[in-house]
Amino acid sequence: MTTATRIRHEGLRAKVMSAADAARLINSGTTIGMSGFTGSGYPKAVPLALAARIEAEHAAGHPFRVRIWTGASTGPELDGALARADGIEFRLPYNSDPIAREKINKGEMNYFDMHLSQVAPMAWQGFLGPLDTAVIEVSGITPDGRLIPSSSIGNNKTWLDQASQVILEVNAWQSAALEGMHDIYYGTALPPHRVPIPLVRPDDRIGEAYFTCDPGKIVAIVETDSPDRNLPFAKPDAVAEAIAGHLLDFLRHEVKVGRLPSTLLPLQSGVGNVTNAVLSGLLDSPFEGMTAFTEVIQDGMIDLLDAGKLAMASATAFSLSPEMAERFNAEAARFRDKLILRPQEISNHPELVRRLGCIAMNGLIEADIYGSVNSTHVMGSRIQNGIGGSGDFARNAYVSIFMTPSTAKGGKISAIVPQASHVDHISQDVQVIVTEQGLADLRGLSPKQRARLIIENCAHPDYRPGLEDYFARATAKSFGQHAPCLPAEALSWHQRFIDTGSML
Ligand code: COA
Repeated sequence: MTTATRIRHEGLRAKVMSAADAARLINSGTTIGMSGFTGSGYPKAVPLALAARIEAEHAAGHPFRVRIWTGASTGPELDGALARADGIEFRLPYNSDPIAREKINKGEMNYFDMHLSQVAPMAWQGFLGPLDTAVIEVSGITPDGRLIPSSSIGNNKTWLDQASQVILEVNAWQSAALEGMHDIYYGTALPPHRVPIPLVRPDDRIGEAYFTCDPGKIVAIVETDSPDRNLPFAKPDAVAEAIAGHLLDFLRHEVKVGRLPSTLLPLQSGVGNVTNAVLSGLLDSPFEGMTAFTEVIQDGMIDLLDAGKLAMASATAFSLSPEMAERFNAEAARFRDKLILRPQEISNHPELVRRLGCIAMNGLIEADIYGSVNSTHVMGSRIQNGIGGSGDFARNAYVSIFMTPSTAKGGKISAIVPQASHVDHISQDVQVIVTEQGLADLRGLSPKQRARLIIENCAHPDYRPGLEDYFARATAKSFGQHAPCLPAEALSWHQRFIDTGSML
């Protein structure tokens, strides 16, 4: 289907213009709410045109920077291009673009890393300031002017509602069969008017399949035909397979002792290769009739749906490799009643995660021997991506699992440390830690019991003696005996890596 037939509203068709003309409607110093979540459904033409305009303005000696809000990470045409043009003054709520990451870590870009479920509520509460422009990718416009969402929902509903002006990109690359796959809930309100969200099963539909937007606010429509750009997943290596193996043993055990049903509970799977390897591992597991209530739909979930192991999945976005995205686009209609995309304030809502009893599975950068987890800051100061939805799920899950290879940087650094250099998930929110070495089930354990188990089951053998030595000395010399700790020494563990490039 061409873009022309995707814009089925007469009046709105008259607003079609070039990306360069649309970018001219955006002023320096303003705030833009863009669509986009993990490389899916982000605008692909207007940000590039805006970046070109910013470069031209800079070359002419005119400062030009904007504030960018999105759903989560996007693609090189958005974060990459605007960061390269030095056009982003402020960014929220999640970034994985390497150029933007560099700018943030050099102190050249302000970044507000936040729980993804809280972005829309915080925008409505007014804490983030006014939103000037929404730039939203859609897959089509109906004859009565409703917007057919694209491959991610993110915060689009909120941006469309809150922005003073709206620019749409209609992307013909997106499958027309996406129509009907979305569930946009318009029932959220601020306290004291909030009511329970009427969703009690992952496959409940509680909203509408379309966004509504005042046509009078739509100032430009740009036609595109460009693919989403997610990175391919690495083929699971021995480490990822070992992690998946330990985790699947754990789940089998939980079913056996009656703490989980044989269908498991709704799965939440974080981003990255290791979590995708776990999904692949589930293909050969005994579990049937599984569901997912998660943030992103990765390749592994499509394979599970195809194999009939997964009954359905609810998320806010696709996060598919280029090969899987092409395959999915060709066959999207087949998945329409098995996949639901929702606003991220719903896909990640703590109320729903707690009600459904999700099994949360997320990656980490480092965990300490007591089970506090750092998901965001290498050596406590250099941001990698952001907390994303991990906090939304970890605190409220039925069981909260974190997984990682036991070492990073070719074995030069241990992912298990005496004290996390930065804490995103306090030990109370971390119930299970898995590395390729083994699994530590921390539920019901005191800090000292946790420390022994994590060192024994999860740490790499090269680092185990150092951690045991630290724990023994901390136990002998600590101020208190509840969670023995020698703060200066624990932090010098990290300093060693900064000074020498290795902890060994
Ligand atoms: N010390 C130093 N560097 C470390 C490290 C450690 N302990 N652990 C990882 N790293 C580095 C890696 O070397 C790699 O660096 P590189 O990009 O220079 O190669 C980088 O951090 C990413 O590590 P990788 O092993 O590729 O991780 P991943 O793809 O499994 O992702 C997280 C791990 C934590 C970065 C990722 O899961 C994340 O962003 N989590 C937060 C958001 C989240 O959980 N979202 C899901 C919620 S739904």
